[in-house]
Amino acid sequence: MVSPVPPTYDSVRVRVPAKINLALKVGPRRRDGFHPLATVYHAVSLFDEVTVNRAPPGRFSITVTGEGAASVPRDDSNLALRAARLLATSFTDESVAGARIEIAKQIPVAGGLAGGSADGAASLVGCSMLWDLDLSPEQLRRVAALLGSDVPFAMLGGTAMGSGRGEEVMPALARGTFHWVLGFAHQGLSTPAVYRRFDELNPRPAVPRVPVALMEALRAGDPEALGAALDNDLQPAALDLQPKLGRTLSAGLELGAVGAVVSGSGPTIAFLAGDENAAVDLAVALSSEGLCRSVRRATGPVPGARPI
Ligand code: C5P
Repeated sequence: MVSPVPPTYDSVRVRVPAKINLALKVGPRRRDGFHPLATVYHAVSLFDEVTVNRAPPGRFSITVTGEGAASVPRDDSNLALRAARLLATSFTDESVAGARIEIAKQIPVAGGLAGGSADGAASLVGCSMLWDLDLSPEQLRRVAALLGSDVPFAMLGGTAMGSGRGEEVMPALARGTFHWVLGFAHQGLSTPAVYRRFDELNPRPAVPRVPVALMEALRAGDPEALGAALDNDLQPAALDLQPKLGRTLSAGLELGAVGAVVSGSGPTIAFLAGDENAAVDLAVALSSEGLCRSVRRATGPVPGARPI
């Protein structure tokens, strides 16, 4: 419940990272339409910033600027808006809560980097501070899980195992910093469409398990071993829907990446470099190939949604 003391903040700005999936193992479609997952999430240094400002009770609005802003929904399908409303109805008497939400995007829309989920997580963190809600991490995590499969991880950040439909997260042991080059595609991919193609391509998928070699590579902080262990069951479906991605993957590996994987349901491709210098060289070389809409360097792991 909202405390009777005057509010501490008029405005809260939250920085939230993109995620890539180092492993994404997918099981047979469940009765609720979702798929059981065994995944390893990894938060990388590509950030959206979400600012929540005090607004009259019951008033919620949203503005979006930056990468792909024109294609971000402004209605209730926007996860940042939905997060604010859900938090208000769950934990306030609604005569107090309202928010004017501003999203500054760097994470591409429909890119397999969980940008929408990141904005939802940031909105939860921001609004809970704006409204002085005294919520436990577990209470926030439960609201996050209601919003979407990737939202709890966007709050946690770092490197983490994900199970259930992705919403059950547990930090994983990982040593050091990894250097990534992200290749953004010209067009997005719809997550439900990629899962549907996965179902068509895999009539009887196995029970999903995270590869042991990948967890060992993370514990050792070994980029070559991690590169060899990257593993995404959705990759063939994403390549089937956007065949050009196959050329981009091959180009990055030929140019010296120690591993490459489609992130989540795609189409962004995450290339792993051996070290920072190799990442700089790879980013320059990949840009000049002209296969990607744009190329960005990022490091991981980084923390999840945090006020700044
Ligand atoms: O959880 P979220 O709303 O982000 O999921 C978006 C869509 O992705 C779902 O509607 C579903 O089609 C698909 N999905 C799935 N299995 C998962 C996660 C997502 O089929 N574990």
